[in-house]
Amino acid sequence: MKKYNIVIVGGGSTWTPGLLQSLCKNKDVFPLKRLVLYDINPERQEVIGEFAKILFKEKYPELDFEYTTDKEVAYKDMDFVFCQIRTGGYEMREKDEKIPLSFGVIGQETCGPGGMAYGMRSIRDMIEMINDVRKYSPDAWILNYTNPAAIVAEALRRVFPDDKKILNICDQPVNLLRSYGRLLDMDPNEFEPVYFGLNHFGWFTNLYDKDGNDLVPKIKEIILEKGFAPVDAEQRDQSWLDTYALVKDMLQDFPDYLPNTYLQYYYYPEYKVKKLNPNYTRANEVMDGREKRVFEECRRVIKAGTAKDCSVIHNDAHGDMIVEVAESIAHNRNRIYIIITENNGLISNIQDDAMVEVAAILGKNGPRPMGVGKIGTFYKGLIEQQLAYEKLTVDAYFEGSYEKALQALTLNRTVVDAKKARKVLDALIEANKEYWPELK
Ligand code: G6P
Ligand code: MN
Repeated sequence: MKKYNIVIVGGGSTWTPGLLQSLCKNKDVFPLKRLVLYDINPERQEVIGEFAKILFKEKYPELDFEYTTDKEVAYKDMDFVFCQIRTGGYEMREKDEKIPLSFGVIGQETCGPGGMAYGMRSIRDMIEMINDVRKYSPDAWILNYTNPAAIVAEALRRVFPDDKKILNICDQPVNLLRSYGRLLDMDPNEFEPVYFGLNHFGWFTNLYDKDGNDLVPKIKEIILEKGFAPVDAEQRDQSWLDTYALVKDMLQDFPDYLPNTYLQYYYYPEYKVKKLNPNYTRANEVMDGREKRVFEECRRVIKAGTAKDCSVIHNDAHGDMIVEVAESIAHNRNRIYIIITENNGLISNIQDDAMVEVAAILGKNGPRPMGVGKIGTFYKGLIEQQLAYEKLTVDAYFEGSYEKALQALTLNRTVVDAKKARKVLDALIEANKEYWPELK
């Protein structure tokens, strides 16, 4: 079997150990020749990299492994690039969440003004990364789950219209599918989903089992009766449990389809603002939780010289998904994933050049997405407003336009009021001086 070369961009991420574990788990079906971790932060990279050396000595001794801060080493002769960068780190995520909250507006990593701020930071680095990769590996598949995926995907669509080997994908649909699996006590790999929307803004309309029976009515019934929890509830922080619990409310109000959890911010902005603590946000929870846990555990493993009883490499959807996606492409498996792609009629009453999220068959020749036809007025209205926000954000970035940024935020359902939008925008501009283009 062919052995593949992979680079993980953002190798110093808290998600990397889980991803390394998925690579070990899949080594018989998806064997690697070479793996490189690449990060611009040498300290984080070293901890995760040294940890990886110990892990691989025990689980993948034949692997040619290296970690680096050198682009050429990172990108040369790669088959797959897994990209999970976070421009500005958790320090900037904290600002994305706290600044809007200080004006009484939703503060979230990818939704609302925080998502806009993060998007305007991510675009430049993503473009640079793809240009660098293409210099050294013109044919590599670039699997991207850098956030905010909707805005990143729209920017990349504009800059690299002919590059057919960039795939933007989010793990939340997989998390949801696994959670439905737990709810029904069924294997989620057997589900055949029908899904439409934008990234972090979509719905499952149907979920077929092997025999073609739609499981959505049953799932709705269970959630409405007993509530909803993530598949890995035992490992989740409280804020994630609260997020999943709100799916029940969303279904009570809008029972047509199963909503993506992120819709909570758009359906219930006032309620969510009241619930969010402006002084301790998800970024704080992550920095005090996963961040500490992962780095402490990696340091412990390095000291102990063995990863045998390591606690940070449990099963996680993040890592599994990206490895299984790569394998589905490499071996032309044609499995179904929910991916982000240009609309071109997939949702027939939404503009062609929208980057939409739908189910797709994924094989060697890339995704073959599945259309859903016409959608109802409520969903069309929501999507078009959010799409306008996303497009105007990307316009604002490329044109350096303050006005477009203000229009974008005003259209966002988490903001609405233009005076509020201006205040939040001005504060975000100040906080993102080092990262954003100048807006005039
Ligand atoms: C889900 C989303 C990702 C997001 C992540 C945040 O997996 O699909 O886009 O980055 O949640 O998780 P965190 O634990 O960092 O809040
Ligand atoms: Mn996501």
